[in-house]
Amino acid sequence: MQHSKILILDFGSQVTQLIARRVREAHVFCEVHPCDVSDDWVRAYAQDGTLKGVILSGSHASVYEDSTDRAPQAVFELGVPVLGICYGMQTMAQQLGGKVESGHTREFGYAEVRAHGHTALLQDIADFTTPEGHGMLKVWMSHGDKVTELPPGFEVMASTPSCPIAGMADEARKYYAVQFHPEVTHTVQGQALLNRFVLDICQASPDWIMGDYIEEAVQKIREQVGDEEVILGLSGGVDSSVAAALIHRAIGDQLTCVFVDHGLLRLNEGDMVMEMFEGKLHAKVIRVDASELFLGKLAGVSEPEQKRKIIGGLFVDVFKAEAAKLKAGDGGHKGATFLAQGTIYPDVIESGGAKSKKAVTIKSHHNVGGLPEQLGLKLLEPLRELFKDEVRELGVALGLPRNMVYRHPFPGPGLGVRILGEVKKEYADLLRRADAIFIEELGNFVDEATGKSWYDLTSQAFTVFLPVKSVGVMGDGRTYDYVVALRAVQTSDFMTADWAELPYALLKKVSGRIINEVRGINRVTYDVSSKPPATIEWE
Ligand code: XMP
Repeated sequence: MQHSKILILDFGSQVTQLIARRVREAHVFCEVHPCDVSDDWVRAYAQDGTLKGVILSGSHASVYEDSTDRAPQAVFELGVPVLGICYGMQTMAQQLGGKVESGHTREFGYAEVRAHGHTALLQDIADFTTPEGHGMLKVWMSHGDKVTELPPGFEVMASTPSCPIAGMADEARKYYAVQFHPEVTHTVQGQALLNRFVLDICQASPDWIMGDYIEEAVQKIREQVGDEEVILGLSGGVDSSVAAALIHRAIGDQLTCVFVDHGLLRLNEGDMVMEMFEGKLHAKVIRVDASELFLGKLAGVSEPEQKRKIIGGLFVDVFKAEAAKLKAGDGGHKGATFLAQGTIYPDVIESGGAKSKKAVTIKSHHNVGGLPEQLGLKLLEPLRELFKDEVRELGVALGLPRNMVYRHPFPGPGLGVRILGEVKKEYADLLRRADAIFIEELGNFVDEATGKSWYDLTSQAFTVFLPVKSVGVMGDGRTYDYVVALRAVQTSDFMTADWAELPYALLKKVSGRIINEVRGINRVTYDVSSKPPATIEWE
C-alpha cells in the first residue's frame, strides 16, 4: 500500500520529533530528515507523487543569524504546501525574498496570538474571541529573531504586540508559517492546526493506522525474509516484544527468539516472558539462564561504568554464542541469516540526523549495536518507522497484553544498576521483592482527578537497593537491616524528568508493606531529585 507522506526537515530543534508525532496522531505517515539534504534528494523523494507537503522545523539556535542552515530550494519548487515553524518560518521568509531581523524583545513562553485574514490554516481555529471579534490563540513562543518584511505574495496571518508578523501565508502557493510552536502541548490548538495543515491543506490521506498496518508489515517481512531464518534477542521490553510478535505473525517458526536471563530481571519476569511467547504465541524461544555467569563476573566490582561494561559485554558474548549455534543450523534447520532488532524511529532519527546532539557520555548504554556485522547476519528491523506510542498500539493490535505493552522502560543492565555498588544475589532477591510491592501498589492507587493509576501517571518507577544498614525496631526487638529508595519520575522524553509527587497514602502503604513483607529491609526512603542534576537511574 502506498501511503501519502509528509516530509519534515529538521533544523535541529529539541521538539522536531513532536511535530512528527503530531502528524502521525493525525494518522498521516511522515518522516524526519536533516535540513541539509540536497535538492536532488528532495526531488527524488517527491518523485512517486506520494509527498503531500513539507514542514520546516524550528532550530536549536534561537538566533537566526547564528545558523547558516537553509531549506533545500527544491522544497519550494515541488508544488506541494509548505509549513514553516519558528526558525522554519524565518528561513522560508528569507529564502523567498522577505527579511529577518534580530528581535529587540525576545519572546519565550506563553503568548496570545491574534489571527488575521481568515486563512485556510487558521480559519475557525481559536481559543477565544476578543470583544472586537478577533480570533485569539494561546501559544508557546520561543524565539529571538523575527520576520520583519514579508516575502512577495505573502500576507500577515498572525501577530502579537511584540511580533507583528507572528504568522504569514501565501494562500495561492499554500505556503504557511508560524513563529510559535504548534507541536508542543502548551499551544492549545496545536494539534488542530497541524491536522488542518496535513489533512485539509496538503490533502494527505489519514491511512496510517496500526491495526491496518499489521497486514502491510507482515507482507514486507515475508518479502524481505523469504524462506530464510531469523534470530531475535528478546529482552521482555516493549520494543523487542512487539518486534517478536510481529515477526512471528509473519513467518512463524522461521523465527527463533533468544532470551538471555542475566539474573538481574524483575520478579518473575523470565517466567512471564516465556509464558507469553512460548505459552501463548507458540513462538520458538531459547531461554539461556546465565545468571551465575553474570553474578560471578560482577563479584567484587562496584564501579558503575565497570559494572555496565561487564554486563553489556557478557550479554553480547552469550547472545553471540547462541546466535552462532542458530546460524550454523541443525537437523531440521538451515541456519539463520537474519538478526532482528526492535529499533524504533527515534533511534533512527538520532543516529541519522540531529547534528546538535551533545556527545558527552553520561552512562554507557547497553545495546547490541554492531552485532549483525560481527555475526555476519542481515538486519531485520520491522519497527524502524514507528514511534513508541505506535509500537504500543501495534503490540495491542497483535494481541500482546496491555500491561506488557504499557510497561515502564527497564534498562538493559537491569537490577545491576539499581543495586548500588557490588551486585550480590542476596541484594537482587531483596530488591526484586521490594520493587514488586512498589509496582503493585502504584497500579492499585487510582488518582481521583484523572481516573488513572499512579503506575500510568508515572513514566518510570522502581526501587533502588542501598547496601547500607540502618537501625530499626520491630516488635520488641532491634533490627539492623538494609535500606531501599523508591524512585518515580514523570517525563516525556527521559532527557529531563521531574520526581513524581506520589500521594503520601501510597508511600505509606508501600513502605509498610516492604518493611513487613521483605525481611532484611527495615527502612524505605523516597527519592526527591529531578533530572538534571540527578539522572533517573542511580548508576
Ligand atoms: P538516566 O539514568 O540516564 O536514564 O537518566 C534515562 C533512561 O534510560 C534508561 N537507561 C537505560 N536503558 N540501557 C537501556 O536500555 C541502559 O544501559 C540504560 N541506562 C539507563 C533509564 O532506565 C531511563 O529510562
